[in-house]
Amino acid sequence: MKGIILSGGSGTRLNPLTKMTSKQLLPIYNRPMIYYPLNTLLKAGIKDILIIIAPEHAGNYLNLLGSGREFGARFTYEIQDEPRGLAEAFIIAESFLDNEDVAMILGDNIFENDFSEDIKSFEKGGRIFAKKVSDPERFGVVEFDENKKVISIEEKPENPKSNHAIPGLYVFDNRVSKIAKQVEPSERGELEITEIHNAYLKMGELDVRTFDGDWVDAGTFDSLLKAQIIAKEKLQGGLIV
Ligand code: DAU
Repeated sequence: MKGIILSGGSGTRLNPLTKMTSKQLLPIYNRPMIYYPLNTLLKAGIKDILIIIAPEHAGNYLNLLGSGREFGARFTYEIQDEPRGLAEAFIIAESFLDNEDVAMILGDNIFENDFSEDIKSFEKGGRIFAKKVSDPERFGVVEFDENKKVISIEEKPENPKSNHAIPGLYVFDNRVSKIAKQVEPSERGELEITEIHNAYLKMGELDVRTFDGDWVDAGTFDSLLKAQIIAKEKLQGGLIV
């Protein structure tokens, strides 16, 4: 299985912090933010990793992460010219993936949980995750029935049907680039990742798993602060990079 860290976008919600660097390079306690999602992939044994970045800060990423040898891994870089949506990553990554399965993680998502087993046991279809939150309207939201069967998946719904948010870690089989190419831009002009989830759901091949431990999308000032505290108090022992 190959890995993608999606680390582009403009990070405007964190202005002025993101005026001179990329959001995913901001410090989270004692390390740049991207080290945490990188660690999640490395722990799961994923060593061949594509890092998708915005053109403005590409040089900073190369300086920081380089070839990947320091981490026992191999890094490849691709530029996403405009933030056209999460699903575009699978189109940009098509030749890198070369028909292999993929685990994609967002460069601003920090997890306490170890996903090694969830990733290593993956065989086919799509595997995503769900976490109860108090502000589901900020996220992709999954609705389950009483038997834990998925009923619906929506992107940032005004009236969420559940409080189960979908975090930024996604495992898909080698059909994902083809599926991503069929996604139409949403009203906000993005290729939404939830369209990919829904495509696998329609085929009856989407597995949604809940998990333990904290999760933070460090895209706002408050969640950035929360991420710092979690990193200091819970992640020090777990970091291998
Ligand atoms: O954090 C989990 C959430 O991430 C999911 O629940 C949502 O379904 C998913 O759409 C996404 O929502 P966000 O509002 O967090 O998306 P955002 O636009 O903030 O982008 C997430 C990260 O991906 C961010 O670090 C920037 C990067 N990004 C984003 C876009 C749209 C890119 O690299 N390229 C892009 O085109």
